[in-house]
Amino acid sequence: MLWRDDTPVGRLRFYANGDTALLDGLVLLPEAGGSVAAQVVSEALVRSAALNKRHLNATYPAAYIASFAAAGFQELRRRTGMIASTQISLPLSPLPSSLRVRQLSHDDIDQIGTLLQRAYSGGPDNLHPDLAGWRAEVRAILDGRFGPIIPECSFVAEHTLDHFHLAGSIMAHLERNVPRIHHLAVAPSFRHVGLGQYLELKTMQRLQELGHSTVILYVTLGVPAFNLYHRLGFIEAGPTYIEPERKINV
Ligand SMILES: CC(C)(COP(=O)(O)OP(=O)(O)OC[C@H]1O[C@@H](n2cnc3c(N)ncnc32)[C@H](O)[C@@H]1OP(=O)(O)O)[C@@H](O)C(=O)NCCC(=O)NCCS
Repeated sequence: MLWRDDTPVGRLRFYANGDTALLDGLVLLPEAGGSVAAQVVSEALVRSAALNKRHLNATYPAAYIASFAAAGFQELRRRTGMIASTQISLPLSPLPSSLRVRQLSHDDIDQIGTLLQRAYSGGPDNLHPDLAGWRAEVRAILDGRFGPIIPECSFVAEHTLDHFHLAGSIMAHLERNVPRIHHLAVAPSFRHVGLGQYLELKTMQRLQELGHSTVILYVTLGVPAFNLYHRLGFIEAGPTYIEPERKINV
């Protein structure tokens, strides 16, 4: 919590993971005044250096962009939340006959990790430096670390002749009791045949059958998935968050 005398004026979270310090959850009340965001940023830099961290990563609402930009942060990506009704009239268009979609299982973790690494490679969402990181993330989602997984709404797509590489996948779990789609991905060689839309629609339809009327997801602005989500009725909900990084000179 941030206090001015006896009055709370904001909050934030500052913590460390490996050689990186992280700052997120920054919320400042209007009475905090214009200079507090800049003070928070410079204090975070000082503490990161004192902890011998090499990077300071942050997630903050776009309203604070001036303070972070002035302190030399480099923008990595902009994220926003989206929400849609699961009651959607679009039909499931048939897929090429060589593709088969089935419910995913824990046995698929390694292959989904490989798929996500390939699908996100070279883009702004390439979050993990290696395959182990992607597999750990998939395991965390399926183990319910982000909220209980909804297995009936989580699918993989396989090519009938290739059982070693997945063509696509989608995972859904509850986040504070609202279904969230986490990582829709299609392997580069299977794109633009409608598989991404098929997986997204199938998940939404199944959620509706299970009695969930809305679904949320988080997306990076500017990625191809954005068009797909708009087509399926998703609208932006909530502020845009910026994720920048600043190297620390220790
Ligand atoms: C986003 C993603 C899943 C889309 O997968 P996809 O299978 O290519 O999706 P679709 O085929 O349904 O749609 C992609 C485009 O192909 C077009 N398309 C679909 N079927 C087509 C066909 N038979 N012929 C020609 N074009 C076709 C769609 O109209 C769509 O066009 P758009 O550019 O207007 O959106 C894929 O690009 C991906 O994995 N990206 C990286 C991971 C990612 O960013 N995930 C989202 C996380 S929030």
